[in-house]
Amino acid sequence: MSVTESKDRTSHHVPLVLEECGQNGKGRRSRALAERQRHEARMYKAHKMSLLRSCVDPGMILRVGLAVTGLRGWAAKNAMSHWHRKLVFEYESLPAAFDGFRILHLTDLHINCRPELADHIHDQIKDVPVDLCLLTGDYLFRVGEGEHEAHEYMEHVISGVKSRGGCIGILGNHDLASNATFLESLGVRMLINESVEIRIGEDSLWIAGVDDPHDYKCDDLPAADHEIPDDAFKILMAHSPEIYEEAADLGYQLYLCGHTHAGQIQIPGIGPLMSKSRTPRRFTHGTWRHNDMYGYTSSGIGASGLFARMFCPPEIGLIELRRKESDR
Ligand SMILES: [Fe+2]
Repeated sequence: MSVTESKDRTSHHVPLVLEECGQNGKGRRSRALAERQRHEARMYKAHKMSLLRSCVDPGMILRVGLAVTGLRGWAAKNAMSHWHRKLVFEYESLPAAFDGFRILHLTDLHINCRPELADHIHDQIKDVPVDLCLLTGDYLFRVGEGEHEAHEYMEHVISGVKSRGGCIGILGNHDLASNATFLESLGVRMLINESVEIRIGEDSLWIAGVDDPHDYKCDDLPAADHEIPDDAFKILMAHSPEIYEEAADLGYQLYLCGHTHAGQIQIPGIGPLMSKSRTPRRFTHGTWRHNDMYGYTSSGIGASGLFARMFCPPEIGLIELRRKESDR
């Protein structure tokens, strides 16, 4: 097992198939969505309270600091300076048909944080063919606000995705169950504590997706993992890195997440000022490893709280899976 940055390879030409979850899937999904909706009213109230407190929050202090120092324009320009972060994950256990499998990882779009962001992202991904696109949540800027506009922008972004296996998504802590319904109307396969099998010929791997483990705490990894065979190669989509121990214990090979924005503001040599994650610091940005599982916490695409980034560029993840030959 290893992880490196970069180097392109050719893509597959064998048909790729997404298998739907089994017979109990529909009942489990409606229970999962109902569970999230129960939490939404509580979360929406908490969000309003946090807006009331925003006059003393760190974002406000930062906003004033950037305005006073004249750095606000520079920090806002940084927030639109996306780069393609190319990562290669190598595994001996990867099924042969998935050698060279390319994944576009988009997270924390907060797509209505700037009107020009959707256009910009569309242009950045429209000429990048991949095998699968994975969306790990936070489509909206503010919970329950600007939903119509955000949906319009998300439609534009999704129309730019060039993925032969389509898109799979999960919800983040800025999203509502209604956002899942909308994304599904665009053809995105949303996973609410569920999993899907991806087949290429005789080989397959599994993608599991949990609901938000950070604010909503509606994640149910055992339910998502329930149908996955013990010997499967499996990837977990979670909004935040906070269930990394549980995922490693269940034998996941790769954990993809965002949520932290890598702090948005970093100090060179020190790292993020804030991470908003109940994990050790090393899980809050970039690639990491826990036991036999690799993870990637993306710095994300949009911004929340404050449209600003310093020494922490927003990123579009381009992940390639490679099969590593055994030394034995
Ligand atoms: Fe976010």
